[in-house]
Amino acid sequence: MSSCPNHIAIIMDGNGRWAKNKGLKRTAGHEEGAKVVRDITKHCSLLGVKYLTLYAFSTENWTRPKLEVEFLMKLLERYFKSELPIYLENNIKFRAIGDISKFSKSLQKIIKDVEDKTSNMSGLTQILALNYGSRDEITRAVSKLVSSNQTINEENISLNLDTADFSDVDLLIRTSGEVRISNFLLWQCAYSEMFFSSTLWPDFNSNELDEIISDYSLRDRRFGGV
Ligand code: FPP
Repeated sequence: MSSCPNHIAIIMDGNGRWAKNKGLKRTAGHEEGAKVVRDITKHCSLLGVKYLTLYAFSTENWTRPKLEVEFLMKLLERYFKSELPIYLENNIKFRAIGDISKFSKSLQKIIKDVEDKTSNMSGLTQILALNYGSRDEITRAVSKLVSSNQTINEENISLNLDTADFSDVDLLIRTSGEVRISNFLLWQCAYSEMFFSSTLWPDFNSNELDEIISDYSLRDRRFGGV
């Protein structure tokens, strides 16, 4: 039997449908989704979860309409500005994974600044996947190994992924009823338990997370053994 997961990863899906169902613009769904990011992060911190990784912007999300991408960039800037005191009050460390060099200089600076200012926090680590794609991450890791003449093996690949400092994912959750992984943490989810919820991300809440964790705690994780 497994207890509370050490590392939870969430594909936060359904913002657009949530907004459409309410006759609102898609951006309203993202705005509401950002509030849920805060609630779920605080809840995981209280539960004693060590790592929470959230898929905030994928390498494929650039293909969305220009206005939506611009809105998401501004939302991230606003989020980080308002979030710093919340990380500090709750002893939460913030880390980004993904290739943030494609973001504007100002957004990159804010991200680095929040990482620096929370680096001494010892509670939950909230990891946001930003311009993240698992294939891109693995390719970058292998390229680093090749260019530094290191052996290509599992340990070295893990050590060169953006997630090198974190343990593998124990529980992967996707909201909105879609049942796919969408290029998220493919390496790190090799043995994770998966849970697919039909709730749209802006409606997701801590009670549902508790139910999922309770289901997870009953699962028998064998990691390929018997
Ligand atoms: C998927 O919903 C969601 C995203 C692509 C972005 C996730 C962003 C947030 C939760 C808000 C911003 C995050 C932070 C950290 C401030 P979708 O737009 O694909 O929804 P749909 O499938 O219903 O269209």
